[in-house]
Amino acid sequence: MTVGRRGVLAGMAVAGAGAGLAACGSKGTGAVLPGDPHTRNADGFGTDPLSAFGLHQPGITTAAPAHAIIAVFDSVAPDRAGLVDTCKWFSREVTSLMAGGEVGHKSDLYPPVDNLVVGPSRPADGLSITLSVGSSLFDRRYGLADRKPRQLEPMPNFPNDQLDPARTHGDLAVQISAHTPETCQHAFRQLMRATRAGTVLRWMQEGFLQPNTLGEGRASTRNLLGFKDGTANPPPSNAKLMDSLVWVQPGAGEPSWATGGTYHVVRIIRMHVEFWDRTPLRTQEQLIGRAKDTGAPLDGRAETDLPNFGHDPGGRVFRRDGHIRLANPRTAATEKNRILRRGFNYSRGYSANGQLDQGLLFQCFQASLDEGFVAVQTRLNGEGLEEYITPVGGGFFFALPGMREANDWLGRSLLS
Ligand code: HEM
Repeated sequence: MTVGRRGVLAGMAVAGAGAGLAACGSKGTGAVLPGDPHTRNADGFGTDPLSAFGLHQPGITTAAPAHAIIAVFDSVAPDRAGLVDTCKWFSREVTSLMAGGEVGHKSDLYPPVDNLVVGPSRPADGLSITLSVGSSLFDRRYGLADRKPRQLEPMPNFPNDQLDPARTHGDLAVQISAHTPETCQHAFRQLMRATRAGTVLRWMQEGFLQPNTLGEGRASTRNLLGFKDGTANPPPSNAKLMDSLVWVQPGAGEPSWATGGTYHVVRIIRMHVEFWDRTPLRTQEQLIGRAKDTGAPLDGRAETDLPNFGHDPGGRVFRRDGHIRLANPRTAATEKNRILRRGFNYSRGYSANGQLDQGLLFQCFQASLDEGFVAVQTRLNGEGLEEYITPVGGGFFFALPGMREANDWLGRSLLS
């Protein structure tokens, strides 16, 4: 009989409650990584809460936990007042879900207020929920045209894209992330129920990851190409850097309601993993620019070493069309193009021709869409890795500023 990781942990937490063992990290070594639960309850759910309130929404600079759902909705609210209702209902549910705790009112005569997918006492489980708006919300329906974030447009077709309209664009994007898939599903269904009058699900994608230690309180992960991913992300703990790269600041030329928000890019990028798995290791490493086992840049020894492209103008060590060289050439002029990535792996089974349908549920956040994702993707157009990946969906969105306190609601600065 095999016992899953969760079962072992739940058993440990119960058996060791008196001895304080419940505080063990999920690695079983005592190490707690960013994005990992610090403690788990007897059912295996994380006990760490995140705050729903602040200048910014959670789920952006907060460390990525192991599971996520990105769901995109179309708004069917008949008018602006209906859209306000959608946002208020959504925000109330977010506040309640992220607070965790006992599920309230119960009556046999009504549908249960909670689906109980995570039980009668909702665990915190590192849950965060992030709401973003797409450019289509600023069409004529709600009289918002003059409030559109300056750079928010429908995501264009980049040269390697084969976008599936059924998995692209939308009015409202929701990112739900937590330590367990159950917590994500629970929150997702509660949110759908709360906003049913004003929204229709357009597309969704689930994702997962496993954090690897990076030292200095940071973590990367491994993507489904088998490479360490997230290594060179700007550190979210550096608030000053986040203010310059991620959060829209007053005076940035954006509508004033958008201060504290950020441009949110989602890309569903399919990987041709069978082809990749038949590709020589050396080629794989040159296409990325890093060693596959350690994650070190090809001119370094440790994952956190910095690559020096300046020493290699001819591309002897780093291919000139290699991923990290193009994504971040590390020149003074390209510093402003740095983005905060928060991607997850995805697996959707297999396609009709018997090939695995796996890839990267890529997300990134930036204060300027043009200087961030668009500049980086434009440099990546034509990269060697394109043979192995095909972007098939996603969209451009704007993550709303945060809720300040319990009576606040997401979208207040935009809609009132
Ligand atoms: C399936 C598609 C992709 C794969 C497999 C992939 C993989 C990787 C890997 C393995 C790294 C090195 C580790 C790290 O620093 O995170 C990396 C870095 C990076 N990637 Fe990607 N990536 C993909 C798509 C993208 C896209 C669409 C963008 C943005 C347009 C992007 C932007 C970056 C950036 C900015 C870095 C950091 C470069 C640095 O600062 O050294 N990646 N990626």
